[in-house]
Amino acid sequence: MCGIVGAIAGRDVVPVLVEGLKRLEYRGYDSAGIAVLDDGQVRRVRRTGRVAEMEAAAQAEGIHAQLGIGHTRWATHGGVTEANAHPHVSFGELAVVHNGIIENHDAQRDRLKALGYTFESQTDTEVIAHLVHHHQQQGHDLLAAVQAAAKELHGAYAIAVVSKREPGRMVGARMGCPLLVGLGEGENFLASDVSAIVQATRRVIFLEEGDTVDLTREGVRVFDASGALVTRDEHLSDVSLASLELGPYRHFMQKEIHEQPRAIADTIEQVIANNGFVPQLFGANAEAVLGDIEGVQILACGTSYYAGLTARYWIEAIAGVPCSVEIASEYRYRTVVANPKHLVVTISQSGETLDTMEALKYAKSLGHDKTLSICNVPESAIPRASALVYYTRAGAEIGVASTKAFTTQLVALFTLTCTLAKLRGRLAQAQEAAYLDDLRQLPGSVQHALNLEPQVQVWSERFAPKQHALFLGRGVHYPIALEGALKLKEISYIHAEAYPAGELKHGPLALVDTEMPVVVIAPNDSLLEKVKSNIQEVRARGGEMFVFADLDSHFGESEQVHVIRTPRHVGVLSPIVHSIPVQLLAYHAALARGTDVDKPRNLAKSVTVE
Ligand code: M6R
Repeated sequence: MCGIVGAIAGRDVVPVLVEGLKRLEYRGYDSAGIAVLDDGQVRRVRRTGRVAEMEAAAQAEGIHAQLGIGHTRWATHGGVTEANAHPHVSFGELAVVHNGIIENHDAQRDRLKALGYTFESQTDTEVIAHLVHHHQQQGHDLLAAVQAAAKELHGAYAIAVVSKREPGRMVGARMGCPLLVGLGEGENFLASDVSAIVQATRRVIFLEEGDTVDLTREGVRVFDASGALVTRDEHLSDVSLASLELGPYRHFMQKEIHEQPRAIADTIEQVIANNGFVPQLFGANAEAVLGDIEGVQILACGTSYYAGLTARYWIEAIAGVPCSVEIASEYRYRTVVANPKHLVVTISQSGETLDTMEALKYAKSLGHDKTLSICNVPESAIPRASALVYYTRAGAEIGVASTKAFTTQLVALFTLTCTLAKLRGRLAQAQEAAYLDDLRQLPGSVQHALNLEPQVQVWSERFAPKQHALFLGRGVHYPIALEGALKLKEISYIHAEAYPAGELKHGPLALVDTEMPVVVIAPNDSLLEKVKSNIQEVRARGGEMFVFADLDSHFGESEQVHVIRTPRHVGVLSPIVHSIPVQLLAYHAALARGTDVDKPRNLAKSVTVE
């Protein structure tokens, strides 16, 4: 979604801002802009479309400066127009960029209009610009004006502000949306995401809820919500520049699909190093938190939700713990009967999905203090709000379609399952050793599945002209069918639905005809014979099936039934291996249809609004 970058330096910051915005492109956006203080004047360039178009316009206008802010906007309030693009200005004196949503913008707009302000855009952000300006008019300096305005804003925001009245200063504030400071030598930065500034510095400070920050070239001062000067820890970011570069791949999604053996190996490294499933993998006091739980409540959105659905099969079968999985945006608005002895597990690649964060806050308000975050972004909001954390080590995921984050989430959830089982005396030593061995073999099995790419590519050409597709799975592979359908629809725009195969005859079978491709995930598990019967139901109606079956499934091919054989059955970790071919199918179908694979229409990488 929206992205912020700001810089104050002794050099021209425009290339820093443009580079930062390019690195934020992966989050999804529809317009971009910068505002700088040049010779005491606010100069602004905004364009709908790509950062490169805005960059060209800035070059054409000869914009250079030592202080500036930049933004990529994903439209919420008001359409995709240049007038709605950030930065927004007030009286040409002050410029603001903003992530998040100001809920009381209507009331503030009316108030500011009554004070004589006029509005050029339909955005909630313009309210912030005028409000800060209004407080400056009351005699406040820029920092105090931002602090006063923040008190009057309801909702979620991360903002960066510059003013021509104080040309050596940049002020930021956060509430509900991430914002961090980058510390350089004689230069400092603001960003919503470390990837935006990692080319300039790796020394970062993560601002906390309610913080405001005052940046000059020489220093940074952070104030908490009460206005007191505070010290926030400095971190050294380990985001690798390589993970932000495409390298030899055509798309980040393709690169990230192929990075999965490495990502999985990195994620299980600490388990293997411990030679077992120990609670400390989840945090220092994890044994106390996990020891006496009576159930697990998983909360997540999108692909992360499907990881949770998969884990439910493991947690109930292996650990013997009751487990519910709920879409975070539903849970947060439901009257929930809470049992504080249940462990609340949030799953989020980004760690900043608003619905998941709000669901966690709601759970905590109901008395859930046993909370665990499974997350891919260190120091992001959700793990910081959780008692325990397990970081997946997938590396930066740039493609909007989640791939390596999903499979590493599954690895983390399997580790949780085994840890719970062991704490409850349900994991014999021999079984623990066997599961550890399965994990050790997993990167190899995933690589084997990746080697199927040429076969999957051939199939994808038959999918590309289709308008609809059905995905079927049973048991622990049903969530993989859901994930396959989500991948296909989000990047190829082919409408796809997933069903548990046994549910077919209760309705969806009516959709099956010769035009409907049916993808079946059919490994050699206890439900294989049931799946085979379900396939006959499709076959009898003329449907064309595309079956991913492992080497032991013994599927016969025919004119109607195409089979790609995934590696020999890997037991309980089979859903992880079967995620690979459905990712590849979606990728190649999208490629054949010529869609924007890494930045599919209307979608954003981090969903930081409701
Ligand atoms: O960052 P999160 O894991 O919290 O994101 C949740 C969903 O927005 C995300 O998984 C989304 O569904 C992906 N685009 C799917 O590929």
